[in-house]
Amino acid sequence: MSKTYNIAVIPGDGTGPEVVDEGIKVLNAISENNDFKLNLTYYDFGGDRYLKTGEVLPESAVDDLRGHDAIYLGAIGHPDVKPGILEKGILLKLRFELDQYINLRPVKLYPGIECPLKGKGPEHIDFVVVRENTEGLYAGAGGVLKKGTPDEVSVQESINTRKGVERCIRYAYEYCKNRNKDNKLTLCGKTNVLTFAFDLWERAFNEVGKEYPGIKTDYAHVDAITMWFVKNPEWFDVIVTDNMFGDIITDLGAMIQGGMGIAAGGNINPEGVSMFEPIGGSAPKYKGQNVINPLAAICAGGLMLESLGEVESGKTIEEAVMKVTANDIKSLAAGKMGHSTTEVGDLVVKNL
Ligand code: IPM
Ligand code: MN
Repeated sequence: MSKTYNIAVIPGDGTGPEVVDEGIKVLNAISENNDFKLNLTYYDFGGDRYLKTGEVLPESAVDDLRGHDAIYLGAIGHPDVKPGILEKGILLKLRFELDQYINLRPVKLYPGIECPLKGKGPEHIDFVVVRENTEGLYAGAGGVLKKGTPDEVSVQESINTRKGVERCIRYAYEYCKNRNKDNKLTLCGKTNVLTFAFDLWERAFNEVGKEYPGIKTDYAHVDAITMWFVKNPEWFDVIVTDNMFGDIITDLGAMIQGGMGIAAGGNINPEGVSMFEPIGGSAPKYKGQNVINPLAAICAGGLMLESLGEVESGKTIEEAVMKVTANDIKSLAAGKMGHSTTEVGDLVVKNL
């Protein structure tokens, strides 16, 4: 009997639905070649629904989603909705409520892709960032006093719990061990200034490290790491960091792997329901034109299969994407691929 996975699909805003369509095309094709089925349930969460109903997420959403094996997300963000409402009300809410405490972001330069770094090729850029995904500055702790007056005070606190930090660090060690590339884990922090938060991170990093004698450890300040990403990206294997730093350095990571058109990530609860997404936004100016690059969403589908245990199928998707970047596609930029969105999806299917 073949396995069936129940997948919640949230196409979302802007170009989200277009890239999700291509991702689903690829996922359906690979499931036909293999012994598993995907049972898809679509949810209309996003800006249009919010503008129509005034509701960001229905009451039942989190529990509904909890009943699935994984969530496949397009993009959240709408030009007619004030920034923050949908991001916090949908994306961050789901990350927090489903306790997706890891944000896993591979940074890998595929063949045939032009890298903005001079002299760097696929052999230099292949690392993974493990970003803590439920705490830090994203926890929403803080407040405002005397708003709008000259005496206004605004406080935004970074929350770091021993439990939250430790489970993230342990995941990173475990991931690094299983990846078995350079067996090197780098902690990215700011121990010279954030002497409370990163003291906790550093102690947890060193203590958990004792359980992994086969993993070499390293440390880099976040400002320095942005420099090394540009100068010596080949130094990195797996990097672990907090929520805010992880957010920032993975946009830089996306650029050195060829841009938002290719960068995928997973919001992972290793004991629960995880959510996979292209990390670029909703790109409203390209909406509906069949020009957006679907490869990031397709790669996110591959990560989803790997996390569901269909590791071979996930790898097959990545290999097909690598053939397409090497042989077929002119550029990763929207409108410059030499193919439409739907054609790129077809090319990946052909290469499976
Ligand atoms: C990301 C995004 C989100 C984040 C935004 C949209 C809230 O930038 O997934 O990196 O900051 O985490
Ligand atoms: Mn981001």
